[in-house]
Amino acid sequence: MNINDLKNSFEKIFKAPPENQYFSPGRINLIGEHTDYNGGFVFPCAITLGTYGLVKKRNDNKFRLYSLNFEDTDLVEVDLSNLEYNEKDAWTNYVKGMLKYMTVENPSINAGLDILVYGNIPNGAGLSSSASLEMLIGVILKEEFSLNIDKKTLSLIGKKVENQYIGVNSGIMDQFAVAFGKVDSAIILDCNTLYYEYVNVNLEDNLIVIMNTNKRRELTDSKYNERRCECESALSKLQTIIKINNLCDLTVKEFNRHKHIIKNTIEEKRALHAISENERTKEAMNLLRNNNLEAFGKLMNESHLSLKDNYEVTGKELDTLVESAWRQKGVLGARMTGAGFGGCAIAIVSKEDLDSFIKNVSKDYKKVIGYEASFYIASIGEGSQKLS
Ligand code: GLA
Repeated sequence: MNINDLKNSFEKIFKAPPENQYFSPGRINLIGEHTDYNGGFVFPCAITLGTYGLVKKRNDNKFRLYSLNFEDTDLVEVDLSNLEYNEKDAWTNYVKGMLKYMTVENPSINAGLDILVYGNIPNGAGLSSSASLEMLIGVILKEEFSLNIDKKTLSLIGKKVENQYIGVNSGIMDQFAVAFGKVDSAIILDCNTLYYEYVNVNLEDNLIVIMNTNKRRELTDSKYNERRCECESALSKLQTIIKINNLCDLTVKEFNRHKHIIKNTIEEKRALHAISENERTKEAMNLLRNNNLEAFGKLMNESHLSLKDNYEVTGKELDTLVESAWRQKGVLGARMTGAGFGGCAIAIVSKEDLDSFIKNVSKDYKKVIGYEASFYIASIGEGSQKLS
């Protein structure tokens, strides 16, 4: 589906051509998993898979929404006067949530829009299709109504939609990566202060392969919120003996000195993951800056093991993919990416060995899991934007 197909679809559905086109990416995270809500570092990149939005202004204040990803559903009409969450409204809740929080602060959003949405991020694959949609709507509203609002504020509104409107207690990584993405760059983000820098991703003769378990990961019914609570509980116990605001304020060494206070093996393991992952992420940033891909890959492997053994969010599907990837020739490192519990893993693979890599991992996965995995080559792209 290219942009002309999308324009034709828009015209067919809304009986007039679109006025503007927008794109918002998905993301992968190189390393730094489940650290964002623990006040640590993350290291994501926006990818060139994402969500397109074609738009035309209306004269009333109705928002009419259509997604080409769910063609069996009808055109959905949303009125600015009724923006409450409704489970039945499925994907349009993300749009309504953004509208709800953005109209409060921006009275200049005073008219409706016809919006056609099409995404090529595999749905439920943990590549942030929901943050992609939120930031798409954010940038559409910003441009269509000439709002004076920066990317950071848009990311925070997207996070608020997830947390307060949808009910997933996620951190800031996804919205931030989607909004701030830059070609061939990873974003090192301190989630405590939101200070960030771009790091050039030069993989030489290697590629990033995204491996999709094709096991759907539903964040809302997953154990995501439970992990977050376990971390909060460990933090509050540590705070009775040391002055910290977040788990990631600690080094592993400091944690080992104080962990006796937690008195709960599960919570101790969760905290150890967050703290050690934060250290790995900072180290990984330095390694990538120095083009030390080999050591970078090893940290990815360590990250996966910690997510498997301490955070327990990998599961059989992700472990099968990653462990098979580790056995292949030309692989520098592999790990799950995103929340876990299904979704995707990534591997850094030499171009030369790409074909055999995909063939062998595919075969291993099918044999153990019983259905196919999917593979994509990740290109690192720009953040949410109006297309010219
Ligand atoms: C999901 C959340 C993020 C982050 C990751 C795990 O993608 O939306 O905020 O917590 O999981 O690193």
